[in-house]
Amino acid sequence: MSERKKITLPALFNKTAAGEPITWLTCYDYPTAYLQEEAGVDMILVGDSLGMTMLGYDSTLPVTMNDMIRHTQAVRRGAPNVFLVGDMPYMSYQPSVETAIRNAGRFMAEAGCDAIKLEGGAEMADRVTGIVHAGIPAIGHLGLTPQSVSALGGFRVQGKGALQAKKIMDDAKALEEAGACAILLEMVPDRVSQLITERAENCLIMSLGSGPHAHGQLLIYHDMFGLYPKFKPKMAKVFGNAGEVILNGLKQYVTEVSDKTFPQRENWFTMKDDEFDELQELLG
Ligand code: KIV
Repeated sequence: MSERKKITLPALFNKTAAGEPITWLTCYDYPTAYLQEEAGVDMILVGDSLGMTMLGYDSTLPVTMNDMIRHTQAVRRGAPNVFLVGDMPYMSYQPSVETAIRNAGRFMAEAGCDAIKLEGGAEMADRVTGIVHAGIPAIGHLGLTPQSVSALGGFRVQGKGALQAKKIMDDAKALEEAGACAILLEMVPDRVSQLITERAENCLIMSLGSGPHAHGQLLIYHDMFGLYPKFKPKMAKVFGNAGEVILNGLKQYVTEVSDKTFPQRENWFTMKDDEFDELQELLG
């Protein structure tokens, strides 16, 4: 693995001050984390989207803290130097400030996270303050927040109308004032994202489908490489169709085993003649 300095929160703010966009991807496993670290990605989010991309649920809601911790530990082993963010799953912070602090603490102590992310606006400001007062960097998440997808009426752009846009802007300010070090805007119109970014004083604004004006970009890894067949959101550029490459490889494997062209001599292990003769003697 190449030598790389640990990415810290001040390093991310320095990058922003230098006008360089921050790169952020989701990741849920060790080998992908290794590749993302090698590629020079700044931040990794172990998102509760793993419920859909890795565990095959229809939503993120069934994901537990234990699911999150197990995957986050694997990612940390593969990417020791990225700025690692653990995503607080459904009901790991909504019930109370204390629940939020305890679960945020698990991400730090058990999985080696650098920060946690939680969904929601002003109504979650007390959770953010509690977590930050416990010494844990907290990242907010506004716009399309998948844990509330039922209340939001589906996976759709948030803040297209002026009133809703104003509410998202007020929520962003509330989260920043509560101590959030960063806010993710998911599926928010570009101009609203630009206004929030311009008004942020001490908070990194990150975009997922919310335009180019934020301090950095997040993408869902499985969408980038054709690895989640169920749906492809508009914001997800496909950077390579790994899903297709893997499927073709699997079909070829089935064909080659069936027609006995696999395995070939170089694919198996052998035994010396004298050892084999001795074995046959032992067997009588
Ligand atoms: O769980 C996740 O991957 C997320 C993204 C959708 C931002 O929260």
